[in-house]
Amino acid sequence: MTGLLPNARSRRIEESATLAISAKAARLKASGLDVVSLGAGEPDFPTPPSIAASGIRAIERGNTRYTPAPGVPELRAAGARWFGDTFGLRYTQDEVMVTAGAKAALHMALDAVVEPGDAVLILAPYWVSYPALVRMADGEPVIVPAAIERGFIHDAATIDAAARQHRAKGVILNWPNNPSGAVPEPDQVRAVVDVAVQRGLWILSDEIYATLLYDGARHVSPAAMPGGSDRTMVVNGFTKSHTLTGWRTSFLAGPRAVIDAACRIQSQVLGNPCTISQAAMLTACEQPLPQEHDTRMAAFDQRRRYLVAELNKIPGVRLVAPRGAFYALIDIRELCAKKGLDDVALCERLLDQHHLAIVPGSAFAIPGFARLSYAAAMDQLQKAVQRLRAFVESK
Ligand SMILES: Cc1ncc(COP(=O)(O)O)c(C=O)c1O
Repeated sequence: MTGLLPNARSRRIEESATLAISAKAARLKASGLDVVSLGAGEPDFPTPPSIAASGIRAIERGNTRYTPAPGVPELRAAGARWFGDTFGLRYTQDEVMVTAGAKAALHMALDAVVEPGDAVLILAPYWVSYPALVRMADGEPVIVPAAIERGFIHDAATIDAAARQHRAKGVILNWPNNPSGAVPEPDQVRAVVDVAVQRGLWILSDEIYATLLYDGARHVSPAAMPGGSDRTMVVNGFTKSHTLTGWRTSFLAGPRAVIDAACRIQSQVLGNPCTISQAAMLTACEQPLPQEHDTRMAAFDQRRRYLVAELNKIPGVRLVAPRGAFYALIDIRELCAKKGLDDVALCERLLDQHHLAIVPGSAFAIPGFARLSYAAAMDQLQKAVQRLRAFVESK
């Protein structure tokens, strides 16, 4: 055989479904169509000016050179304080590293702990990248089916049974959850950590939405539970809360040996996270901007309430109020049955015929559902509701 071909591992890595839908929506928009694009999970608010200014100052001061691979010491120390002040997690500076976004943090963490062939539990519905990231680390993703009737919070016994059946080595948790917006009660988190302790599982806890909460929901990290801290790697940062999406920064925190290993990997793959973005992240850590946070949360909450009220009026569509993040996972099983379409075909038709981009639940291992992001202006959400209703009423 001649020519350059991708290897078997890369052939097992699919393109991110959410990015693919957003790209298609962007193409249709560029061709002049009025497309409502609710596929991507990116806040519609700008990066707060004081944080952006720190990045600009870094450039102006010539703070543009390499840094240590795990990030500058001041930021690691500020990160350790932020974890303590915000979530009650106690880390030393050496137990916190900076990396290029939550995605990279998950990648470095999995690369540091997964042995070839290790089974890793992923709870459906899950954020689209987890299975690919596990495969890239030569692990085997094991999908635990969604607990729809339990408000998307798995019973610890179900996780325990899956761990036993597959001899799992680890579990990825994501609360508040993308796509469901589910936030467990502290005792539910504790029950899952108890299973991890009993079965000797490591935990990779993706907490990137930890400060985006509604209806009195409380975020409790698995690392804060008894037995949790020495088996949990925590991913967190300001990507979603402060629109640091394009800045590509995040923290990975956990036991020193694993962070050291992840830092060695990062030193070979990335070198260091962007120096300018580290300056911005330091400001985000040290200046919490409570007013900015309240303004954003009030806007997200207003949109969330609007969607719960309006979507539940559409025949065949159901939405249980999400308690965290900024996604609505709508139950369209009845609508799919009525139209004789699965969720993928239905979302395709919504985009092609009604110019509304939302993500089929199949992308998150929850067929019969669809996710829309309400990190979008109210007029876009109003149009989305109108278009979905028009589709439902169409022959
Ligand atoms: C659950 C979850 N984890 C990680 C990420 C990636 O975040 P980042 O942009 O910081 O890589 C996202 C982004 O959508 C997400 O929803």
